[in-house]
Amino acid sequence: MWDYSDKVMDHYRNPRNVGKIDDADLIGEAGSLACGDSLKLYIKLKDGVIEDAKFQTFGCGSAVASSSILTEMIIGKTLDEVRKITNKEIADELGGLPPEKMHCSVMGHEALEDALKKYYGDEYQTPEEKYISEKIICTCFNVTEQQIIDAIKVNNLRTVEDITNYTKAGGACGRCKGLIQKIIEANLPKEEKKLSAAQMILRINKVIETVIAPELQKDGGDIELVDIEDNKVYVKLQGRCSSCKNSVLTLKSFVETTLQDKVSQDIEVIQV
Ligand code: FES
Repeated sequence: MWDYSDKVMDHYRNPRNVGKIDDADLIGEAGSLACGDSLKLYIKLKDGVIEDAKFQTFGCGSAVASSSILTEMIIGKTLDEVRKITNKEIADELGGLPPEKMHCSVMGHEALEDALKKYYGDEYQTPEEKYISEKIICTCFNVTEQQIIDAIKVNNLRTVEDITNYTKAGGACGRCKGLIQKIIEANLPKEEKKLSAAQMILRINKVIETVIAPELQKDGGDIELVDIEDNKVYVKLQGRCSSCKNSVLTLKSFVETTLQDKVSQDIEVIQV
């Protein structure tokens, strides 16, 4: 169960500005029903200022709360002011969102960008247009390299899991995860760029101790780190995990995937 701030719960239970503006000056859309959520944002202008804003959304509670707070953030502001709003500011205004739900704030931001495009015309580009010539990294969700780089920089992201939470990239078939990891590594601040062998060992140890082992222990299993050689991590599954008929599956689909997501995508886990 995710931990939501009081403000998220308040905006989810009592969403502000729900509905449609029949004579809206601008309408922005984002998401798609095929992806599980969508948002339509209506804006009414008066003398260059947003006099009213309403939304219709199909999605989870975080999508409702993000859309609701977004309307409050933009009413009374000029379009020049609202074009500076980022998805992070939408989430911050709600008192934060669980990482897995950050894409809801991204959707609000994209709907706003789409509406702005209608006002500024050709001079303004929606994220899709801005990135149209860019490389698509995740074909399941049409996420480009530049969108991933922007998400990394604006939100200070470090793992493939973070990227999936913010952009959805990597959240379906997972084929793009290797590329996402490479983009993360290429865009890390200089001081973090290359993990030394010692840092790598420390990080692997920490992930095993704090994430993997506790999860295996819930089912009566455990794991021991035996050795690390370049990208190869040698482990011993213990307890129920060692005799379980799904041990190879556990090793590859849980231990290896977790280490790849949290440490480095080229890690290979080998049972000894
Ligand atoms: S290509 Fe990214 S999840 Fe399928």
